[in-house]
Amino acid sequence: MAKKRVLFVCLGNICRSPAGEGVFRGLLEEKGLLDGFEVDSAGTSSYHIGEAPDRRMRQAAAKRGYELNGHSRRLAREDFQRFDLIVAMDRSNMRQIHAADRRGEYRRKVRLFCDFVPGSGLLDVPDPYYGGHDGFERVLDLLESGAHALLEHLQSLPEDDS
Ligand code: 4NP
Repeated sequence: MAKKRVLFVCLGNICRSPAGEGVFRGLLEEKGLLDGFEVDSAGTSSYHIGEAPDRRMRQAAAKRGYELNGHSRRLAREDFQRFDLIVAMDRSNMRQIHAADRRGEYRRKVRLFCDFVPGSGLLDVPDPYYGGHDGFERVLDLLESGAHALLEHLQSLPEDDS
């Protein structure tokens, strides 16, 4: 069976999307499903290219047992083809992703993360970068709340959804 591939996308690729990647990978690990998936993250901006995830995000994640690895990279053209699902952390990220997909070929692959958070009524995972400690905890709470539905959605996608 082909791997299912999911890409988390935020603005800087140092806070929300690496955390999304880490939390989702944690769920896959817990369920013994890691081999069936490729999980990655990217940013819509080039502000932090090459940087490790934000220390505050890493520390908050580590307390919950998630190790955040990788280095910030910018969303690339090839990502649209490669990934089955592209998950935007907020509506602004989603607009940037749609803008990068100029011909709109891949629109159906792009979803807001909050679509997978049951009953939150939220549209955006709030950007924690300029806020206090609570913002990072809030991001992790939301990511954990949506991870199960996200997994179910990925598992429901047809094999050849490229
Ligand atoms: P992220 O957070 O999009 O969740 O990685 C941010 C990181 C950096 C900036 C904004 C948001 N920044 O403006 O540099």
